[in-house]
Amino acid sequence: MKIDKSKAQPFLKWAGGKKQLIPELAKYIPKSYGQYIEPFIGGGALFFYLRPDRAILADSSKELINCYRVVRDNVELLIHELQRYKNEEAFYYRSRDLDPDELSPIERAARTIYLNKTGYNGLYRVNKAGKFNVPFGRRLNPQICNAAILRSASEALHRTKLVAADYKTTLKKYAKKGDFIYLDPPYYPAGGYAEFKRYTRKFFYEEDHVELHGVFSELVAKGCYVLLTNSNTDFVRRQYSGFEYRAINARRNISCDASTRHGEDLIIFGSPTRSRRISEEPLLHGTLLEKFPGTRLMGSKYRILSFIWQCVQDLKFDTVLDVFSGSGAVSYMFKQYGKQVYSNDFMHFAYYFAKALIENNEIVLSANDVDGLMKPNRKAGRFISQTFAGLYFTDAENRFLDSIRANIELIAHPLKRAMALATLTRACLKRRPRGVFTFVGDRYDDGRRDMRLSLQEHFLENVRFFNGAVFDNRRNNCAFHDDVFDLKVSADLVYIDPPYVTPHSDNDYVRRYHFVEGLVREWEGLDIQEHTRTKKFRSYETPFSSKDSIYEAFDRLFEKFGSSILVVSYSSNSIPDKADLVSMLKKRKKHVHAYQVPLTYSHGNQGDKVGDNANRVLEYVFVAYD
Ligand SMILES: C[S@@+](CC[C@H](N)C(=O)[O-])C[C@H]1O[C@@H](n2cnc3c(N)ncnc32)[C@H](O)[C@@H]1O
Repeated sequence: MKIDKSKAQPFLKWAGGKKQLIPELAKYIPKSYGQYIEPFIGGGALFFYLRPDRAILADSSKELINCYRVVRDNVELLIHELQRYKNEEAFYYRSRDLDPDELSPIERAARTIYLNKTGYNGLYRVNKAGKFNVPFGRRLNPQICNAAILRSASEALHRTKLVAADYKTTLKKYAKKGDFIYLDPPYYPAGGYAEFKRYTRKFFYEEDHVELHGVFSELVAKGCYVLLTNSNTDFVRRQYSGFEYRAINARRNISCDASTRHGEDLIIFGSPTRSRRISEEPLLHGTLLEKFPGTRLMGSKYRILSFIWQCVQDLKFDTVLDVFSGSGAVSYMFKQYGKQVYSNDFMHFAYYFAKALIENNEIVLSANDVDGLMKPNRKAGRFISQTFAGLYFTDAENRFLDSIRANIELIAHPLKRAMALATLTRACLKRRPRGVFTFVGDRYDDGRRDMRLSLQEHFLENVRFFNGAVFDNRRNNCAFHDDVFDLKVSADLVYIDPPYVTPHSDNDYVRRYHFVEGLVREWEGLDIQEHTRTKKFRSYETPFSSKDSIYEAFDRLFEKFGSSILVVSYSSNSIPDKADLVSMLKKRKKHVHAYQVPLTYSHGNQGDKVGDNANRVLEYVFVAYD
């Protein structure tokens, strides 16, 4: 028998079928991929369009999967069986009332197809007891058996694996790196779930969408290409803000600008290779945030600021305390959104970043100031030149450091001093390969522009960057440098981004940044360990450095700031894990949400390359409030 392959198309009428969206979906099909997996198969429009070599099709409906199996394996008997079905009301209700468990697989499949073609609007709906309850459709001439379509569908299904299971089970079992996965879940309702009751386990509720988002992110982090369709609603757009998405209006046959928000469907695409992962996403364009002099400081949230903002933007708060401010990026974002910001870090250089760009609303370094700073200071000692000779910078650069450090001490204005210290710190970090002081010499010098500029040139360049980043949000922002547990400040929202404890690498900020920390403190009160090659000093003590103390530390923090909204950053390769953090937060707060986004870390950061994970982790933001 000759089969016209071009006819392969859905053999079921499917409410919410994606036939009209195919031209748009087709734009996201990867050039090459492993298996094709569609775990909410429904009518299977994209599958029949693609006809991939290796496919796994799944659905939680046993009836549906049985139907696909029979089409694949017994299409001729099925066609024969379908001949006896009639488009009559009494016949319809008799067939509807049959218990599928008492029928043969072929009879069951024929019944499913029949009910689908003659029932109301091709709906698939079951009652509490799992019984199909769609009324007769009163259609004039439904095609109960289209043999040509069934035969070509059978051919297309030939090499597929058909699975009756929940989508999570399917993906857990089968999804592998490089696979192409299309997720077409029941849509998030346009008006939210207010008028919906959860009456069956199968019903897809808001929390299922939250869970699905987690699965989506995990698949992308695993290296899969993931395509998802859902309703174009605020809820869904916010969920997937870290991914590429487009709104489409395929249903109404009118043209519309696909890039606007006005379509009914949202197509979301997550790819391990395509560049718009959140990790590379540009910061809120056209805003001050673009001016923030970001650093590669370990754990900096610079690349995911817009994601963090998305997680908190609907909450009511006016003051923010960023207790582990690091580079100051998150504080800077909140400052930009008009919040009153308190930043804290126990590293002094981090404190100066915050003082320069968060507390400081107006002071910049003038041309005169810069001249004064660059002038050789004859009274400067030779501490850096002698102590660090040949380790991190050239002799001329070390002499410059001794001199400028002495000049900075001549500045009386504390904010101006902070600007100079922050600028100098960033210049030193930029001038070092990988931005750290864990090794000496120029190992890892990859010839980048940053490696070719002298420290003096970096400093002058950074004066421009820092001056350009100073702005006034008309609030009394303030920087602190306390141990977090000694801090005597509170705020409506407390942002907690501690060093992450991972089994794979230490998270010691002093080991990486001792040189700039010593520089801003002039090594006062610090005992340089002369026997170490790097000439570091003893690390500061913090309970956030080891897995033995981290649980208690989190608990103490949550207690200390228990009356504020708590927002916590953490990652999937760290201890405690997501479930533990959620349960710790739940002890204190009524509502706890966990958001996540895939992120790729660079060298020298937490999550160093392990196996072939390509440094990919999920970055979590937990939001807890009453
Ligand atoms: C993950 S980083 C914060 C990164 C920051 N959110 C950013 O975007 O750059 C953690 C910070 O916690 C600081 N820290 C560690 N233990 C501390 C403690 N006990 N008290 C205060 N700060 C601490 C470290 O100095 C480091 O800057």
